[in-house]
Amino acid sequence: MSHQSPAAPHLPLADGSFIPQLGYGLYKVPTTDAARLSLDAIAAGYRHLDTAAFYGNEREVGEAVRASSLPRDELFVTSKVWKDDNGFDSALRAFDESMRLLALDRLDLYLIHWPVPSTDRYVDTWRALVRLRDEGRVRSVGVSNFHAHHIERLIDETGEAPVVNQVELHPWLPQTALREFHAARGIRTEAWSPLARGRVLGTPLLDDLAAKHRRTPAQIVLRWHVQLGNVVIPKASSAERIRQNLDVFGFELDADDLAAIATLETGERTGRDPDDD
Ligand SMILES: NC(=O)c1ccc[n+]([C@@H]2O[C@H](COP(=O)([O-])OP(=O)(O)OC[C@H]3O[C@@H](n4cnc5c(N)ncnc54)[C@H](OP(=O)(O)O)[C@@H]3O)[C@@H](O)[C@H]2O)c1
Repeated sequence: MSHQSPAAPHLPLADGSFIPQLGYGLYKVPTTDAARLSLDAIAAGYRHLDTAAFYGNEREVGEAVRASSLPRDELFVTSKVWKDDNGFDSALRAFDESMRLLALDRLDLYLIHWPVPSTDRYVDTWRALVRLRDEGRVRSVGVSNFHAHHIERLIDETGEAPVVNQVELHPWLPQTALREFHAARGIRTEAWSPLARGRVLGTPLLDDLAAKHRRTPAQIVLRWHVQLGNVVIPKASSAERIRQNLDVFGFELDADDLAAIATLETGERTGRDPDDD
């Protein structure tokens, strides 16, 4: 019996690659569970895994990719260079270490995890990522937790724009201005903590919409992301929730539903403001 949900569409990136719109996020997935849950995600139909050096589970993610029966090209793997490794040489070394742990020939997407403006090294990190892309060691390069002004600086100083910016984004923090900035420059918006780490799910409005569509509150929020055009990477700790979170491509929110969810905006972040580092 197959448990596969309809597959997530693959969205184009400005460099000609494609990214599966919904992936499995591995922040705080312990090493003891990471390979098994990644394989559960792949069995459910996920084709996109989001890890990072900081998450400590790259080895297990690589194991799952190799253990799956899928050709490597059918899976999309993201990793990220951690704050302490910002800088040209240190980012190149961090990439080598991530690839050693992942034990993959090629990465699909490598991101600068945080800009850390106080150390002023993110432009050098960016030059390192562009070199790795030009050498063919990673297919696409992007950033995470960048405000528009950080991205403008990358473009001004290097002439190269990231193809993705992965940022905190959920109904409390819809990032409308940043999404418009991205759209004008061909940058794909990727939403981290798309469920606000699960905290937005207790909202009565989401219960009402869930009842209306015969879905769960998590599926309502993930469907909202899909209709905004976001790439989205929910984390979950059971095969059942992993399956449920991918099963959002068979229904649609209407204009009234979207307007109702827009009223949940408070501007509240669950993580840091990128300018505060
Ligand atoms: N670039 C960055 O700086 C950054 C920062 C944070 C996160 N991320 C990425 O984004 C991914 C997702 O973010 P996140 O892990 O912070 O939070 P999230 O995906 O918004 O929420 C995860 C929480 O929601 C719960 N949950 C998931 N599916 C559910 C469902 N169907 N019903 C009820 N509860 C559900 C999970 O519980 P259980 O785990 O108990 O199932 C977990 O507590 C991360 O794993 C990581 O890949 C990136």
